[in-house]
Amino acid sequence: MAEADPHTHTCPDCPNRTGETSERRSFVSWLLSGGVAASLGSFFFPVIRFLNPPHVTEAAVNEIAAGKASQIKPNSGRIVKFGNKPALLVRATETEWRAFSAVCTHLNCTVQYQESSSQIWCACHNGVYDLNGRVVSGPPPKPLEEYAVKLRGDEVVISKRA
Ligand code: FES
Repeated sequence: MAEADPHTHTCPDCPNRTGETSERRSFVSWLLSGGVAASLGSFFFPVIRFLNPPHVTEAAVNEIAAGKASQIKPNSGRIVKFGNKPALLVRATETEWRAFSAVCTHLNCTVQYQESSSQIWCACHNGVYDLNGRVVSGPPPKPLEEYAVKLRGDEVVISKRA
């Protein structure tokens, strides 16, 4: 009597056994290859989207409402969003307002108003600007871009200069 080889799935009495095993193998192989393809896709899709982002045009922002004048005390500053960039609104005195791009002209850090010195300071490399946006000290190569400020009732409005 011939003994069946335990490593093969052929069965002399079962003619369909080889076909079933082959079907099972191809199904498992199909599952594995699908998983590999899904893994590769989930890895490469974000990489490709990052390298080739969809073209989105941003609406140009020329004016924003920066807050209520009654809620901003003299000798203070606040960062507000101007489009997709930060802007610095400074209330120097009761009646004197200033606004600038808050993007430092050195390496694009965000500047801030320093109440103690009444100047604009960039913490990244100790750049200092005056309240006209001019460079006082430090590495910034040029002045801050200045914006116009006007009051509409109690609303402080910042706009790009023409
Ligand atoms: S980024 Fe502002 S001083 Fe360098």
